Amino acid sequence: MAAVPPTPPSVADVRTVTVRVPAKINLVLSVGPTRPDGFHELLTVFHAVGLYDTVTATASDRLGLQVRGDEAAGVPADHRNLAWRAALLLAERAGVAADVGLTVTKQIPVAAGLAGGSADAAATLLACQRLWQLRLPAGELDRLAAELGSDVSFALHGHSAVGTGRGEQLSAVAGAAEFHWVLAVAEGGLSTPAVYAELDRQRAARPDRPRAASLPKVLAALDGGVAARLAPLIGNELQDAALALAPQLRDTLATGAAAGALAGLVSGSGPTCAFLAREAGHARELAAALAAGPTCRYAVPVLGGVPGAGVLDPAAAS
Ligand code: C5P
Repeated sequence: MAAVPPTPPSVADVRTVTVRVPAKINLVLSVGPTRPDGFHELLTVFHAVGLYDTVTATASDRLGLQVRGDEAAGVPADHRNLAWRAALLLAERAGVAADVGLTVTKQIPVAAGLAGGSADAAATLLACQRLWQLRLPAGELDRLAAELGSDVSFALHGHSAVGTGRGEQLSAVAGAAEFHWVLAVAEGGLSTPAVYAELDRQRAARPDRPRAASLPKVLAALDGGVAARLAPLIGNELQDAALALAPQLRDTLATGAAAGALAGLVSGSGPTCAFLAREAGHARELAAALAAGPTCRYAVPVLGGVPGAGVLDPAAAS
């Protein structure tokens, strides 16, 4: 007699799903003109780094959200939170009730240029899709992610990817090389719209701006996995604007350079700075030097090029 295939779990069997999701840095961030919708046209290379939030979605009789972690007090736990909006959007499109209790456990610093809020939204989409056992058309989660924010799609995919449009149109990068980085996390945050507005102001005053490195070279260096080849190619056109709003970051960048980082830059709209190391031991040394420096709240070595949002096996998590 043929073996009986295992019965797929029924909706009632799935009561809770936890998704882990990484932060991102931008290895290249080239900012074009402002579009009619107010966003800037971007050409960026996203790189997922091993600093993670988790989102747990639990069956409930109503939509609810709690935020845990050191910075939880500064994060809204209601409809203003992108994770809340992600659950609502998915439920609306799938035609189901948004009956879910969300718990966001934050390790990614808030308003730090690491796309933590976007990461939480991506994790919520995936967790709720699994909790509600939704069979979505191909690409639907990506479409919802793109509606929610410029960095949400990338958090679903991770590794490294080229982003265009306002950042939400992704194409994967060949190879899966990993790199060692240190994130120097600053006191306080920076508002992303304020940093873009400062860039617009600077460009109006001084239109002759430096251009980002050529994309093919960056992609080849990423594929090769040699940190020293990647180092001279990274750059962020938002950096001067972030430095104008947070001048103390110059000291952080100088500390990382003096400590022997292969390269350093402000991540996205800042204020976190990312430093490229030769290997894991070098990253630990850099982190110690940066943590001892004058301007950094803490410094953490992380792996770059890690996978995007993924469901945690409950057995592995316990
Ligand atoms: O899409 P997201 O919510 O992450 O964007 C936050 C803000 O950053 C936008 O409201 C806009 O002010 C600015 N932004 C931009 N151009 C982009 C991405 C973001 O001007 N491509």
